[in-house]
Amino acid sequence: MEELNWQKIREFYPIVGHGVYLKNASISAVHRDVLKEMQFWQEDIANRAAIDEGRFFELLQHSKEVMSEFLNCLPEDVALLENSSHNMNLVAIMMKKDLKEGRNEVIVPADEFPSSLLPFYYHGFNIIQVPTNNGHFTEEDLFKHITPQTAAVVTSVVQFGTGLRLDPKKLSDLADLHKVPLILNTTQSLGVFPINLLKLNVAALTSSCHKWLGAGIGQAIFYLNPEFRKERPYPLAGWCSVEDPFAMINEMPVPRLDVGALQLGSLPFALIAGVVKAIEVIKKIGPEAIQRRVLSLSHELRKTVIDCGLKPVGATTPTEESGIVTFPVENADDLVEFLESRKIYVNNRRGFIRASVHIYNTPEDIHVFHQALQDYKKQ
Ligand SMILES: Cc1ncc(COP(=O)(O)O)c(C=O)c1O
Repeated sequence: MEELNWQKIREFYPIVGHGVYLKNASISAVHRDVLKEMQFWQEDIANRAAIDEGRFFELLQHSKEVMSEFLNCLPEDVALLENSSHNMNLVAIMMKKDLKEGRNEVIVPADEFPSSLLPFYYHGFNIIQVPTNNGHFTEEDLFKHITPQTAAVVTSVVQFGTGLRLDPKKLSDLADLHKVPLILNTTQSLGVFPINLLKLNVAALTSSCHKWLGAGIGQAIFYLNPEFRKERPYPLAGWCSVEDPFAMINEMPVPRLDVGALQLGSLPFALIAGVVKAIEVIKKIGPEAIQRRVLSLSHELRKTVIDCGLKPVGATTPTEESGIVTFPVENADDLVEFLESRKIYVNNRRGFIRASVHIYNTPEDIHVFHQALQDYKKQ
């Protein structure tokens, strides 16, 4: 298979001028074309305001078409909202019905990102945290905790802290078997690990766009399965939730059924345009090539960490690996500071070092990281 010219692709990402950037699991860098698109829309709004305002609705519709093609669902099943915390709150509130019917338990991995579970706590569910073994667990481990009170299984496809990657197909099959709603957070996977919703039984999905999608900060994809949302009314409505917003009728609203009804009012169109362009960039480079590149770099990174006598957590097989490599050290803050003095950027997550690679990283970045780890040990 012919490899892409990654050196050339790398030039489209301004981040590469700032050192060895290994914080992609926090915020991934934005491609120049994405930045240009967002700038274009901001300027266009400043310059033309409400002249030709139909362009906003065209962009909105286009965004749903682009996202639905990317996720393999229907445009009416998907919308962009402000963040995953918000999206999970919507799901939790929509599940009031389940709570009333006695299904009050939500199963999550103990290492899960707070956005995925705090909303469920807050809206009255009991959270069943499934313990992990050094950051490792399987799809089956989550479903062992199913009881008649289970309302849903909520999990990330890639765990934010450890980088452990689950198989969405296995999760979906288990959800089918146990007849429980599966709610996915693909924030740490989408952009590198594609998802095919047509082939999966997923009740709801959220994906913050500032990570592997590289779409800037402030938007999250929200998908709701038609069956799931048919039985659970939307908890919010605004002037844009109705069939014809410009009729401006001041009566009890009849919200539309598509997920876009949750885009209640005026929207950050420049950010929406950025997400659309980010997906186009991914499609142009090629989702398979992106996945191969990220997995190959992160495998190298993992080997480097092991070579330095450190022990990555999470994945125990290559199929569980992602763009994230995490390992414990005695004083994570101290190591982060040491690395930053050399312009190498990693995260301290819960006392662990988290290093994460994207397509614009290089084997040379990993070599520089390796050298720095060795120098740190020698101090
Ligand atoms: C798995 C996961 N979900 C969600 C988020 C972000 O959530 P939000 O969009 O609410 O800021 C992060 C990281 O910030 C994450 O790692």
